[in-house]
Amino acid sequence: MTERKLKIDILTLFPEVFAPLQTSILGRATNSGKLEINLINIRDFSKDKHKKCDDEPFGGGAGMLMTVQPLYDAIMSVKTEGCKIIFPSPIGATLNAKRAAELSKNEHLIFVCGHYEGVDERLFELFDIEQISIGDYVLTGGELPTMVIIDCVARFVDGVISADSLTNESFSNGLLEYPQYTRPQEFMGLKVPDVLVSGNHQQIEKWREVQSLERTKKLRSDLLD
Ligand code: ADE
Repeated sequence: MTERKLKIDILTLFPEVFAPLQTSILGRATNSGKLEINLINIRDFSKDKHKKCDDEPFGGGAGMLMTVQPLYDAIMSVKTEGCKIIFPSPIGATLNAKRAAELSKNEHLIFVCGHYEGVDERLFELFDIEQISIGDYVLTGGELPTMVIIDCVARFVDGVISADSLTNESFSNGLLEYPQYTRPQEFMGLKVPDVLVSGNHQQIEKWREVQSLERTKKLRSDLLD
């Protein structure tokens, strides 16, 4: 069986922001070849003599827009057949676990990070690009949302985390995860629920199901609709 690998190219004006992707679980996944993450500086593709990548919007308005030429050339330099191009943006559909799991099945993802007030709209006319939001608020750029989306997608790539972790976590079955405890069995007078140290696995399963449901009712009743 061939090991599946997810290749991710990140196009950004600020490659230094992505250092956290080299640590912990994603760092290990990269070192073991399950992920390949490449940083591409959009500025390197600017044909402007000062390497400028932004300009004022036609028609006026606040702030600067990213110009289309450096973005076009940066995408063309990494684009492959069957690749998926993602542009994090508050106007996209909001990311959820289901969409992240679907994205993890791709072989090659390209993230284009917008910055400033946005990008020239012709980018979306030139390429098939999926816009993805990470919530109903506006951030200063696409770098942090790109890291959020990559972290979330990478967890669904085979072998990045244990299959068990994925099946017993919040949203995997439409509910929030049950509460968990570890040593010591008693801390500041607070004891771990008896059932969890009973050794009765059927009872433990049942308790966890009830807790999951109760927690979802209390914190996210919208998930039960
Ligand atoms: N860029 C700016 N705000 C964003 C958001 N909420 N989600 C994704 N990308 C963004």
